[in-house]
Amino acid sequence: MIGAYAGIHFGADFNPDQWDESTLDEDIRLMKEAGLTIATPAVFSWARIQPEEGVFDFAWLDRVLDRLHEAGIAVDLATATASPPPWLGLRYPETLPITADGTRLIWGSRQQYNPSSERFRQACAALVTALATRYASHPALAMWHVGNEYACHVAESFDDESAARFRDWLLARYGSIDEVNRVWGTAFWSQRYGSWDEIMPPRATPTFANPNHTFDWRRFSSDMVLECFTNEVSILRRLTPSIPITTNFMGLFPWLDYWKWAEQVDVVSNDTYPDPADPRAARSLALEADLMRSLAGGKPFIQMEQTPSAVQWRPRNAPKRPGQFPLWSMQLVARGADGICQFQWRQSASGSEMFHSGMVPHSGAESSSWAEMVQTGQSLALLSSLVSEPVSARVAIVWDWENAWAIASSVGPVERSAFETAAAWHAALFERGYVVDFVRPGAPLDGYELVVAPQLFRLGAETAAALTAAASAGATVLVTSGSGYVDLEGHAYLGGYLGPLAPVLGVRVTDILPRGDEPGPESRPGRSARISGAIAVRENARVLWEGRAQAGAMHSPRWAERVVLDGAEVIARFSGVDVDGLPAITRKANGAGEAWYVAAELDAEGLDGLLAELERRSGLRPELAAAPRGVEAVRRGDALVLLNHSDDPVAVDGVSGRDLLSGRVADDGVTIAPRSAVILAGDPARL
Ligand code: GAL
Repeated sequence: MIGAYAGIHFGADFNPDQWDESTLDEDIRLMKEAGLTIATPAVFSWARIQPEEGVFDFAWLDRVLDRLHEAGIAVDLATATASPPPWLGLRYPETLPITADGTRLIWGSRQQYNPSSERFRQACAALVTALATRYASHPALAMWHVGNEYACHVAESFDDESAARFRDWLLARYGSIDEVNRVWGTAFWSQRYGSWDEIMPPRATPTFANPNHTFDWRRFSSDMVLECFTNEVSILRRLTPSIPITTNFMGLFPWLDYWKWAEQVDVVSNDTYPDPADPRAARSLALEADLMRSLAGGKPFIQMEQTPSAVQWRPRNAPKRPGQFPLWSMQLVARGADGICQFQWRQSASGSEMFHSGMVPHSGAESSSWAEMVQTGQSLALLSSLVSEPVSARVAIVWDWENAWAIASSVGPVERSAFETAAAWHAALFERGYVVDFVRPGAPLDGYELVVAPQLFRLGAETAAALTAAASAGATVLVTSGSGYVDLEGHAYLGGYLGPLAPVLGVRVTDILPRGDEPGPESRPGRSARISGAIAVRENARVLWEGRAQAGAMHSPRWAERVVLDGAEVIARFSGVDVDGLPAITRKANGAGEAWYVAAELDAEGLDGLLAELERRSGLRPELAAAPRGVEAVRRGDALVLLNHSDDPVAVDGVSGRDLLSGRVADDGVTIAPRSAVILAGDPARL
């Protein structure tokens, strides 16, 4: 529970320091009208709180916290370190980050700090100590919001102080320069290091930098940013030991290993900004909610930021469609959120976010979006029975930031990022009605019926052992192409890819056979090309079921691998130039379960077809097997949340319970209005 409120929180970033103090009265009145239960002040208030070194002004913030407390609104107090004031950078230039090509980033925007800078960390410590001392016993203080979206704009700095810390980091990890040379493979291109001073951040280089150098730099940079966070956390834990701590994550953000970060927070929270104009937006909300619940170890998370309507940073900024804001808020609750907060409370009147929507828009409470804020506040107030209730998933996706970094650092052969692959699998599962847990590599996989390991390029023995154990215990384990190419030292597996996964899968990958770039129409030889016209162009390969009619044949647009069977049976084969007849999907029975390998890179229809095949062969079923088109069904605790994402009213048959939102009782089906939700709880016979 965050603060004294036992329901699902409704809140917002609150920046009263951008406004005249007289606005505070109206803010509080409107917050009560909207049913706000929590507010996050001071996210970007460093310059206001500390106008110069050693000088603090808390009077305004005292009044804000007092007024919020009087109104019964809990405070998630920001530590204000996300945007250092200009005086810090001017006096201490070493606090400013430097890009790979040597450019120093300066103030005038936000987040201009070098994560390795000791001086920056000291300045944060001074501010956080002053804040925590001031507000330790303030009754409104319910949670600390440390920093803001760490690394969102600046994830690394290539300055000399960072270089020195990088060498220390390498020494701690590898123990000797010889070991760095061995792991990085510096025999290649005369890259051998003779002393620590020769090792630099991967600054601008003439051509490809050493992949393991780049990979270690990413790990190091994630650790540096994490140290900025724990620098503040250690002070807060000492001064306010009973106040929970959060910092807002950004979904599958590519620069930070959130598995490591999640170990350091008390409450996982997240910011998500899907495009309201994109019909696939609900997928990304579902993906991020599933990931956050998983980072929280199955406990609830807080949606710390979503936009009330339009953002201002896309080339075209569509507003949320009528009903979308409350619908998406319910979707997040369904998948495990115990709080729905917005960026931001009041739309700014100046600055670069002036045209980003706020809960209170420029036009005030007259705007149509305000009515939806109030409606959502009222709806959330009806959902206290869902607080802390678990969301259970039968399907897991193995997700690993370090693997994604290894792919990004590698020069070839995989053209697709791990983020895309994981998102494509999650999307296919979402569209078929599944809730998915994300699991850390090597974590136990007990209880899952299907475990998908997408593109585990960098694969260790521990992950292979966990997947093998899951298959023996009865799960269907599905590993996709691009997996097991390198070991945990980033060295290629010799004797066939898949390394330690080969035994459970019953296959080894001997050749990778991606198709090349599609030749443009102008390069397709016509009659004038006597020689080149006789050469086949490789098209997208098809993937055909073995020994069956080919209704629903699948496509593998970009990727193919040659696998050697070593105990597996062939489920489907490639059809196409140069790959004809090669196994594309294989299966091997293992103990009580089975292990599948997909040597293709299936498109969305293909992924759906493969999931349908897995359902046909096993007892795997989504929450509501016959959910109508447009309807997402998720069970949270014993409540069934039905979300109609479509533009039409939809009837869902055979469901029953009392709708927590409307109070109506359904005993055999409900009709759900377009872009709205029904949350059925309890047995209608007993209502
Ligand atoms: C987030 C950030 C907020 C605000 C928002 C705008 O990334 O945390 O402060 O800038 O984006 O969409």
